[in-house]
Amino acid sequence: MDIAKWLNRDRLRRRLEELATIGAQGVNGITRLPFTKEEREAMTLVKSYMEEAGLKVHYDDFGNLYGVLEGSDPEAPKVMSGSHIDTVVSGGAYDGTVGTLSAIEVLQTIKENNLPHKHSLEACVFVSEESARFGGGTLGSKAFVGDFTRDDLDKLKDPSGVTLSQALLEWGYNPDNIEYVKGDPSKIKCFVELHIEQSVILEANNIPIGVVDQIAAPTNMRLTLNGRAGHAGATPMELRKDAFLGAAEIALEIERLANTMGKETVGTVGEIYVDPNAINVIPGKVTIGIDIRDVTAARKEKLFNEVLKYIDEVAKKRGLTTELDIIANQVPEKTDKKIVDIISSACRKLDIPYMNITSGAYHDALNMARITDIGMIFVPSKGGISHAPDEFTSFDDIYRGAQVLSEVLYELAK
Ligand code: GLV
Ligand code: MN
Ligand code: MN
Repeated sequence: MDIAKWLNRDRLRRRLEELATIGAQGVNGITRLPFTKEEREAMTLVKSYMEEAGLKVHYDDFGNLYGVLEGSDPEAPKVMSGSHIDTVVSGGAYDGTVGTLSAIEVLQTIKENNLPHKHSLEACVFVSEESARFGGGTLGSKAFVGDFTRDDLDKLKDPSGVTLSQALLEWGYNPDNIEYVKGDPSKIKCFVELHIEQSVILEANNIPIGVVDQIAAPTNMRLTLNGRAGHAGATPMELRKDAFLGAAEIALEIERLANTMGKETVGTVGEIYVDPNAINVIPGKVTIGIDIRDVTAARKEKLFNEVLKYIDEVAKKRGLTTELDIIANQVPEKTDKKIVDIISSACRKLDIPYMNITSGAYHDALNMARITDIGMIFVPSKGGISHAPDEFTSFDDIYRGAQVLSEVLYELAK
């Protein structure tokens, strides 16, 4: 069966281009933040693609979207594939969308060509994968694997104070139904996600396909430092409690610590809110968003503990008080060896060079690994750039990825 030859290249390209218009801001890239009207609009468009594909489509009570193509054995566990369509602020057109639309293209091709398969196939779009709004990401897949209690939905807040519960209500979903979002692991055979690499390894090696063997995990937290606002001219330096300077020291120490731990440990302060944020007022209160990641859980824990220790030291030294909100503290996961072999065989069959690769970014697959076998396929990112307007993957590379995905999904569903 040569399913890879039957994919509709033009249709996939057209859908990618059409989806990229939602939230487009010219040179500032694309902004479709979690649970905003832009993400909603993109979901509605993708739902229409699922309908065109002849899939049975539904949303769950968290706003995740599913399109099912039934197999010949309704009792057999389903093969799932998909990704997300939200973006960071001023993000690119490929992160998440490539895997989402390719999964739909594969299912549509199987349906159009009446290719027999025992297991049902399900294309899915998880909402709110990016941490750009709530400080923690992969929210849709976390809900799907049963990570959230009703209380958690009230605790997660965006910077303007809107809780995840309120965002759900605004979208017409009832947060009290969070229990029903949970997928039944006994009904799932596996989850495979195609994604852009978001780093430089494939490009540097001139290899078009990465077969992911492990996924780094994040610890995300928001730290508030409370000092004392005051006059920027009249307050002597020794009498200040400058919350911003505390935050600056912590950010620099995170960089230093991550550098001492090796190449797979990274730490970022990508978010800062300064209060009152005026040029002639000493910052009285600062909140920073901290993101640390590693493929080794123990090393991430070590970095995490050293960061906590340093926060205490700085607070004492500068007379600041602190409030720490740990939003996510996840463990890295390996992909399934059998699926790695199936992806590798598909590449050999299609005569596409491939290599094993680690994902430094996290993905919905990281959560899915806790309830089922997972696989991930990477395609190159130009210059390794992602989460930025310059994010780019050539359509030839995307199409090759979709072809590999088609062989893999069909093999798993046979
Ligand atoms: C998800 O996009 C991440 O931040 O890795
Ligand atoms: Mn992303
Ligand atoms: Mn992504």
